[in-house]
Amino acid sequence: MTFIPAEWPRKLRSQEWYGGNSRDNIYHRGWLKNQGYPHDLFDGRPVIGILNTWSELTPCNGHLRELAEKVKAGIWEAGGFPVEVPVFSASENTFRPTAMMYRNLAAMAVEEVMRAQPIDGAVLLVGCDKTTPSLMMGAASTDIPSIVVTGGPMLNGWFRGERVGSGTALWQMSEDIKAGKMSQEDFLEAEQAMSRSSGTCNTMGTASTMASMAEALGMALSGNAAIPGVDSRRKVMAQMTGRRIVQMVKDDLKPSDILTKEAFENAIRTNGAIGGSTNAVIHLLALAGRVEVDLTLDDWDRCGRDVPTIVNLMPSGKYLMEEFFYAGGLPVVLKRLGEAGLLHKDALTVSGDAIWDEVKDATNWNADVILPVEKALAASGGIAVLKGNLAPNGAVLKPSAASPHLMKHRGRAVVFEDIDDYKAKINDDTLDIDENCVMVLKNCGPKGYPGMSEVGNMGLPPKVLKKGITDMVRISDARMSGTAYGTVVLHTTPEAAAGGPLAVVQNGDMIELDVEARRVHLDISDEELAARLAAWQAPKNGVVGGYTRMYLDHVEGADTGADFDVLKGQRGNEVPRDSH
Ligand code: FES
Repeated sequence: MTFIPAEWPRKLRSQEWYGGNSRDNIYHRGWLKNQGYPHDLFDGRPVIGILNTWSELTPCNGHLRELAEKVKAGIWEAGGFPVEVPVFSASENTFRPTAMMYRNLAAMAVEEVMRAQPIDGAVLLVGCDKTTPSLMMGAASTDIPSIVVTGGPMLNGWFRGERVGSGTALWQMSEDIKAGKMSQEDFLEAEQAMSRSSGTCNTMGTASTMASMAEALGMALSGNAAIPGVDSRRKVMAQMTGRRIVQMVKDDLKPSDILTKEAFENAIRTNGAIGGSTNAVIHLLALAGRVEVDLTLDDWDRCGRDVPTIVNLMPSGKYLMEEFFYAGGLPVVLKRLGEAGLLHKDALTVSGDAIWDEVKDATNWNADVILPVEKALAASGGIAVLKGNLAPNGAVLKPSAASPHLMKHRGRAVVFEDIDDYKAKINDDTLDIDENCVMVLKNCGPKGYPGMSEVGNMGLPPKVLKKGITDMVRISDARMSGTAYGTVVLHTTPEAAAGGPLAVVQNGDMIELDVEARRVHLDISDEELAARLAAWQAPKNGVVGGYTRMYLDHVEGADTGADFDVLKGQRGNEVPRDSH
């Protein structure tokens, strides 16, 4: 039996388990053979883990077992040994209080699954919002060669001749019901049209954004992000990814070779161009922390500021991911960034080539989907990072999803102490609020509403909606769904539950928002603010144990990615010998 082919420069880690004739080697090989593997498969070929986030309760990833078969085919073709491994699947549409609370748990589990087992390389089979960052974070901390392939977006939804964008239509229709513009019967009928094929949200929500981030970072093959989940080319992409990971292992091409500062800057600019989700801010900061790249909120503002939003997709625009794919997808956007001098062209990708080599020949097939700069949805489409006495460590706002007339605004604060307070008051017609007020929601950050729920785009009061008003300035320490829209200040840090200034805003205070100046200001004196903060007392959460206790003890602020303090950085992939 040959263990290490002569042309290979180094011993693969899987050979620690399988490469020899010791009692332990026989133990490991013998068990695996109960699945019918011939002896010569243990000859030193790379063992590739297909880390699969398939789950029937993660419907966005419900087709990933089928795709895994295509990944396996590619791995076999290239001379690898594929093993499909189920991993934690944090579903956006089922996990409570929010899938975000479990991103770090999933990342921690994936890291341990990779390190503790005979895996030489990994295909990260992902799709729904949190599955993509969590697997990239776990893989980054092990630095085992890894490549992303996503499940792809759903086909367009259609209802009575109109596109139905995942999430976006839901928010719009629920507001229409409150405003008396839509019946409950029509709402139920529209439900049937929302999700008509396998795949992730079809808007430029967080799933499509994170698929685009993976591609822009260089962690997925070029063109991966936009191929619909049911398109035959999605299967081809899966098979090509399987082939590629085997060569990546041979070349020892690791996450740390790809996830450089330049790669993150490319991704940030891409996010501005696609009108991507604010959630990408948190996920990329956390991922950078895993590979020890010095990325900050200020980098988001610096890199994104001059990037126009040219992808005309909901929630900022008109179309959906299916049309983005037909128009040429992300390679067209990356090419445009490169032509504008906004792309680090030499950044390395999982293909082994520079990103520019991958995209320089891309063609735009629909100029109404991928717009010329003169028709950009927002001239400055990058995430705006706001600072001021209300957000000393920063807050974010997505200009392409905001209302131009509210980008500079001064209004009276209407305060909701937490999400229950908001729910109790918002439909009350005696609530003292009008469209010029600023809605303030506290205690919804990582510690406040454990996990940092997507409630920052809180719905407007019905009495305002009935006037035909569709947007108001809203400020919170929460997140917002990538499919949502509005003039919404999010991720305010330090969060209220950690004693940030947001905690001491009172009804009737005046608040100033100036997006151009990157400022969010509570108009009270420094002395008054200091006195209120000195009198503030932390809310009691009553959590005594379990994962929630661990989360509260270790989660950091949104301004650094809301990762656990103990999970930041790389821990490599060395393991002690086993104990059999
Ligand atoms: Fe899973 Fe949108 S809810 S992709």
